[in-house]
Amino acid sequence: SGLITLDVGYKNTGATTSEVTFLDGEKGILRYRGYSIEELAEKSTFLEVAYLLIHGELPTKDQFDKWGHEITMHTLLHEDMRKIFDGFPTSAHPMGVLSSLVSSLTAFYPESLDPNRSPDGVNLTITRLMAKIPTIAAWSYKNEMGHPANYPDNSKSYVANFLWMMFGMRTMQYEPDPVIVDALDKLLILHADHEQNCSASTVRIVGSSQASLYVSVAAGINALWGRLHGGANQAVIEMLEQIKADGGNVDKFIAKAKDKDDPFRLMGFGHRVYKNFDPRARIIKAACDNVLEKLGVHDSTLEIAKKLEEVALNDEYFVKRSLYPNVDFYSGIIYRAIGIPTDMFTVMFALGRLPGWIAQWKEMREENQPIGRPRQIYTGHNLRNYVSMNER
Ligand code: CMC
Repeated sequence: SGLITLDVGYKNTGATTSEVTFLDGEKGILRYRGYSIEELAEKSTFLEVAYLLIHGELPTKDQFDKWGHEITMHTLLHEDMRKIFDGFPTSAHPMGVLSSLVSSLTAFYPESLDPNRSPDGVNLTITRLMAKIPTIAAWSYKNEMGHPANYPDNSKSYVANFLWMMFGMRTMQYEPDPVIVDALDKLLILHADHEQNCSASTVRIVGSSQASLYVSVAAGINALWGRLHGGANQAVIEMLEQIKADGGNVDKFIAKAKDKDDPFRLMGFGHRVYKNFDPRARIIKAACDNVLEKLGVHDSTLEIAKKLEEVALNDEYFVKRSLYPNVDFYSGIIYRAIGIPTDMFTVMFALGRLPGWIAQWKEMREENQPIGRPRQIYTGHNLRNYVSMNER
């Protein structure tokens, strides 16, 4: 079978070529389809970035209008999907509900299971995913609250409609604050793709067996959930709260993070690829100050976060290992300021990452890549004879 190279955790193994996202971890550069993340965050919108990632080019006005219109036309969920929500206990974590409901889309749109779908058919699946995931996400929150679901308001923008479904009451006028809409749009842009990370690789590997886009994305959602990946944003706020409750003693937690006998890690710090700084974290930190100021919110965890960052950046342990704040370090503070509950943070990440997952899946399928199937080096027993139970 030839020589097998061992690379546990794929630290140095490239699994594909890709034209979607460029990342230089040494220099702290991130670009989608050649456009810098800084410029996109400043000038673009999430829906435009989604189009760019999925289709490879910025849309013309006509293409953009059509894209937005088609997504708006598919925001509603099949009424039977509401019954699935009813089956979940209100204590269900919204990430589990989200991945289950996304898998269930295969039941409502079984034509998506056909691995030889036409490009138009694939585009319809993509549109449905982009359109329905905000609805599913918001309804998972409503389910948790025990509140009735809000149906989409198609007169609103992508982000404003999501906020309406989350926070609107059916009996009341609700207009989301433009400061909040802008902040959320920017956050979604910053999360939209990150090349071959754990969840994107999961989407590609599941899709490589010719499983449908819906279940490939559902698998990506589950991969994202863990606290070493997207789940870090929830873990960061919980950590900051813990430090606050403990009297704000940052040094104590820095010492814990450095102690190899203590499983505690500084959540929101470190990255597999960035060894200089995470360019997304820099933008989010500035946005965080801006949003809190504009909304007039004072959040003492922001002070703790800044102090933690300052101490860590000057500590030999973190410097030697090139551990910097990552995208998840400050995002939770913005989410909280705009009213998103803590257990929805990773769902927000999933909403943002969706176009990236779709673009990665699409690229893999269009190139007709082979099934993903890593090898191993076996370290178990040699041949043994079976011992009957009464002789063990
Ligand atoms: N706190 C304390 N020590 C750390 C941390 C941390 N957050 N991160 C890495 N280290 C240490 C680690 O113990 C190891 O030390 P040593 O060389 O002495 O054994 C060294 O730094 C290298 O770490 P690693 O675990 O080998 O690095 P990795 O590339 O496998 O892991 C990571 C990357 C992001 C999983 C890790 O840095 C981590 O656990 N960070 C905290 C969780 C987090 O913030 N995740 C979000 C990542 S960014 C967004 C996303 O992917 O969703």
